[in-house]
Amino acid sequence: MNDRFLRACRREPVDTTPIWIMRQAGRYLPQYRAIRGKTTFLGLCKTPELAAEVTVQPIDYLGVDAAILFSDILIPVEAMGMKLEFLDNEGPSLPEPLRTAADVERLAVFDPTDRTPFTLEAIRQTVEALGGRVPLIGFAGAPFTLAAYMVEGRGSKSWLGIKRMMAQEPALAHALFAKLADTIGQYLVAQIEAGCEAVQIFDSWGGELGPEDFEAWSLPYLQRIVAAVKAKAPQVPVIVFGTGMSTLLPLLKKVGADVIGLDWRIDLGQGRDILGPDVAVQGNFDPAALFLPKEEITRRAKKILDSNAGRPGHIFNLGHGITPLTDPEHARHLVSEVHRLGAS
Ligand code: CP3
Repeated sequence: MNDRFLRACRREPVDTTPIWIMRQAGRYLPQYRAIRGKTTFLGLCKTPELAAEVTVQPIDYLGVDAAILFSDILIPVEAMGMKLEFLDNEGPSLPEPLRTAADVERLAVFDPTDRTPFTLEAIRQTVEALGGRVPLIGFAGAPFTLAAYMVEGRGSKSWLGIKRMMAQEPALAHALFAKLADTIGQYLVAQIEAGCEAVQIFDSWGGELGPEDFEAWSLPYLQRIVAAVKAKAPQVPVIVFGTGMSTLLPLLKKVGADVIGLDWRIDLGQGRDILGPDVAVQGNFDPAALFLPKEEITRRAKKILDSNAGRPGHIFNLGHGITPLTDPEHARHLVSEVHRLGAS
């Protein structure tokens, strides 16, 4: 078993820097588009054989050191009782967004074996298909990021719907975040029980909050999720990731995760200096830099590795998901160059 990803999560010595890529099973891969052409995105998430197949594709093609479950952060939102649609090339849509206390009241803190059996089955089938080659990462969205979609009903640049609820109906917003934290904690534990060896919490839009609001509205619920996971599975590394969080890193560290994801807006070494030696980091190659020629990709990858300067606990990744327009050969080049240049 290639365990350099798990070893790096624990800040143990590794033979070379491990790498995986957020959204590594996605539309930039022709082999993904071939499977995706047979069904809808949600259909793919809910068909364990197909989900397992696309999860394994980038392991074979890219040679990355970890697999990530093929699913979406909004699957548990649907399982809580909300209508969810994915319109082609438009992203997620929740046609009946949360408005009232009764809407929040109705949301179910569900039993994952009952409402998301397809996710757990996809994990079991993926673990089987991986055959011990690399570990499988489970994941879920953070309460703020999920609530932002649930109130807005769709993607947004400013997320004013949830921010207005936090300002004008704080008790309702706290009730929503608490319900989400309990749901997500159970959901991650169920993923671990089904075979995931690490979990990542995506607070993708948490960086939209200023420090005071992040501390009040995101941090306590992230801590609650980490506590729920650690209570059941203390040995399983937890990664917390967000974008636009360079100025929130001291607060993000208080989440208690084993690994902190950095986006490309900060120099990796500078991020580590802020975070200190007792936490690992993941990142932080700009997804758009994969459009550069291969020699430039090599130079940029080396720059990140040099900035880490041999500190234990670095998992190479992009600073956010790989984009559909990326040349798959460039992604593969990045993986092999990180393995070559990161070798100790
Ligand atoms: O990383 C992986 O390979 C695992 C699979 C994964 C997906 N979504 C598959 C996906 C993961 C971890 C996610 C998380 C997710 N989903 C996040 C957090 C990460 C981030 O990007 O910040 C968010 C915000 C979502 C919600 C979501 N799902 C959006 C905004 C979109 C549309 C954007 C887009 O890329 O089209 C999706 C759709 C989605 N999720 C796709 C994939 C492969 C594309 C759907 C398709 O095939 O048509």
